[in-house]
Amino acid sequence: MRKGIALGLVLLILLALTGCTGKQEPAGDNSSIVVGFSQIGSESSWRIANTVSMEEAAKKYGYSLMTDNANQKQAKQIDAIRSFIAYRVDVIVFSPIVETDWDNVLTEAKQAGIPVILMDRMIDTKDDSLYTAYVGADFYAEGRRAGEYLVRKADAIGADHLRIAEICGTTDSTPMRERHRGFMDVIGQDQERFQVIDSMDGDFLRTKGEECMRELLNKHGADGIDVIFSHNDAMTLGALDVLEKENALDSKDMIVITVDGEKEAVDALKAGRVNCVVQCTPDLGPAVMELVGELKAGKALLKVNHPEEGAFSDFDDLTDPAVEGF
Ligand code: AHR
Repeated sequence: MRKGIALGLVLLILLALTGCTGKQEPAGDNSSIVVGFSQIGSESSWRIANTVSMEEAAKKYGYSLMTDNANQKQAKQIDAIRSFIAYRVDVIVFSPIVETDWDNVLTEAKQAGIPVILMDRMIDTKDDSLYTAYVGADFYAEGRRAGEYLVRKADAIGADHLRIAEICGTTDSTPMRERHRGFMDVIGQDQERFQVIDSMDGDFLRTKGEECMRELLNKHGADGIDVIFSHNDAMTLGALDVLEKENALDSKDMIVITVDGEKEAVDALKAGRVNCVVQCTPDLGPAVMELVGELKAGKALLKVNHPEEGAFSDFDDLTDPAVEGF
């Protein structure tokens, strides 16, 4: 039964992401349609898979994709967007590293008549007309899923006080802000039971996840931490490396909750090193290219487009083939 539900969920995700609800990539030669794509960088396996998804989808739809990798610098993303405007691309797609300070460059794109699709992350603006559509995860729902897992786990083990260390993603980025907010909205209901003892910026990087974990161990000791909530798999895997190297888990169980769902993290869940993996799909390319096609066909776009996502945890049957990472 559970297999059936899981398969149904996977199909729903595929349908949502590939836009296979009867829609098809446009036939004919689309190579004159140029999409300028500013990617944040290559900080995680998620990001690398996301870039591949964009490239493969553009190829499938026959669009010409101009990709710029900003190496984690907002200024480089702004430069890339300006160069796409100068080149007069048909559509600009970008994943904003942080939420603030995009209004000027997006006003320039608007004045040039070039539509902008936000992919993966959001911006903070009072003027919604600066972007045509958003394609990306509901990060708030992801944070809530992490919190809901923790409440269920605490109930299952009969815990009445858990000390939580949070390893956060890039400060002021949408996934960092919203995963934290969703998580807190669930566990914050019971502050006696769930105490966040520390929150650190791990910038979505494995190396920073290691640094954060070392600092957390120095400050609190393994005995002072019951739960790790890490905002992405890269940081979680870095933190686990440190915990295992320091033998910090020998005499102590820690509940580890991570977000993304890359293969290495799902394997860690199956091996009992992680307790819960909240999914965040990097495969946003097909949905983005579908919107580019609709734009070129003069259709009005749905403003916010979220993929279907779920979570895997030690409450699930982890031998189910549906439990797999990207
Ligand atoms: O914006 C999505 C986040 O960015 C992913 O969770 C993380 O792995 C990536 O770097």
